Amino acid sequence: MVFVFIFLFLIIYFFHKLLRSQFFNSNKNESFLQQIPGPFNFPIIGGVYLLDRNNLHLSFDKLYKKYGKIFSIKFGVVNTVVLNEPDIIFEAFHKNANFFSDRYMLPSINILSGNGSNIAFSNGEYWKKIRSEFSSLITKSKNKNLETEFNKHYFNFENFLSGYIKKNDTIYIKPFIMTYTFNVVYGLIFNESVEYEQELIPKEISDFIQSLFDVLKETTLCPDYLPFLIYFKNYDHLKEMTKKMIANVNPKIKKILNEMDESNPKTLLENLIVSIKNDKDNILKIEHLDHIVVDLILAGMETTGGVIEWMVLNLTNNIDIQNKLYKELLSNNFLSYPSINEASNYPYFNACVKETMRRSPIASMGPPRLCTKDIEIGGYIIPKGTQIFSNLYSYSFSEKFHKDPFLFKPERFIECPNTPILIFNLGSRQCPAKGMAESEIFAFGTKLFKKFLFTSPNDQVIDDKPLFHVSLTPKKWLVKITER
Ligand code: HEM
Repeated sequence: MVFVFIFLFLIIYFFHKLLRSQFFNSNKNESFLQQIPGPFNFPIIGGVYLLDRNNLHLSFDKLYKKYGKIFSIKFGVVNTVVLNEPDIIFEAFHKNANFFSDRYMLPSINILSGNGSNIAFSNGEYWKKIRSEFSSLITKSKNKNLETEFNKHYFNFENFLSGYIKKNDTIYIKPFIMTYTFNVVYGLIFNESVEYEQELIPKEISDFIQSLFDVLKETTLCPDYLPFLIYFKNYDHLKEMTKKMIANVNPKIKKILNEMDESNPKTLLENLIVSIKNDKDNILKIEHLDHIVVDLILAGMETTGGVIEWMVLNLTNNIDIQNKLYKELLSNNFLSYPSINEASNYPYFNACVKETMRRSPIASMGPPRLCTKDIEIGGYIIPKGTQIFSNLYSYSFSEKFHKDPFLFKPERFIECPNTPILIFNLGSRQCPAKGMAESEIFAFGTKLFKKFLFTSPNDQVIDDKPLFHVSLTPKKWLVKITER
């Protein structure tokens, strides 16, 4: 049996070598990629045998430790380069933004994004225009409602939580945090929200998020990269979930289109509609709104909610730090709550947020980009057409950048406030809502940690090993909550 296996392996190995020498030696892309450090790639499956789809972040981390800040690997049939440290991500995505701004379009991404008609998975002139419209609508100066919205939703959350813990002080807090972040984006878009007592977020949306996670989790073992798998696994489920999600938002969008006053747009969606209608170049299209809205709900809810959940968990596990933060919140503003414009007066709060983003990076990797020109990055040529991943996880836990990386120590950001944070990624495609998300977390967290004390229900340290769904989320955990 062993001999048969070795024999088969040798045949595949030499066949692969032969193919390379016959067909690929002349192929400059292959020879450029071979210069970049990286593991052995088998024919057809490439380096997929090294990627654990339940822990892709850990697989990338292992490869980073072995090969350094840039490595190449074949995701099945797709040539891929992974960038692992802030300076090399910056060199590619910021200094050479023109050649790294497009997404690598995979079949599953095409389905999710309505053939690239949303923001996160669009390309070219359309992407530039829609991103710039969205970015300008969510800046503080243009959207004066942001803080009012954050506060309105926070106080609904607080009232609900205060009532709830009178009956049961030990709770699974995640769904309530997600309802808060869902309400913020839903409110900005539709001026609607859901009640905490009710069925949390609409079922079509939670189902879609779940199926999206399932698909993304299968990244390494899906027909996107291994086309022969299409005979075993198709995209029907994803198509069905996408359809349901669109069916949830489409009637609301139509109603707004029929009823809104275009001379006085109020919500983010109404403002986008006006921008689209005023687009003289006719690049933006009303029919793309369905996918844009779905994109914003997904992008805005899980990420911000995830950071808040991790912050509560980290502070539950570090009660001294939670009490130190409480003192800062009391001493600066004893009676009321700070405005988002006063964020710089709360250095310890900001350090706790940054340390949460470092120690518990909700975004473990950026969505894939496409390299659109043969270009030298980090001393190696990355060929045009390569899929590029930025590994946002390894930096957080690298001794090279952070002493005692597994400790939760906000003080490191007081000592070195300019230490980079990677979870929004870098460059031209960095999260456009970074400022909004930071303000949302500030508005929520400064009130939450002043009002409530979070402790472990059984005095045991809460398990903080993350679950991988492309984002890194805590496993289901319970927390005991008392009013301060
Ligand atoms: C702490 C919260 C958040 C984190 C950690 C986060 C992280 C990210 C990351 C890593 C990307 C990919 C960037 C890249 O490819 O280089 C991204 C893109 C994006 N995010 Fe966020 N995000 C957050 C909050 C939000 C919110 C609140 C919204 C909207 C309401 C939002 C909207 C978007 C959009 C539209 C994109 C696509 C941008 C593009 O492709 O040009 N994000 N975000």
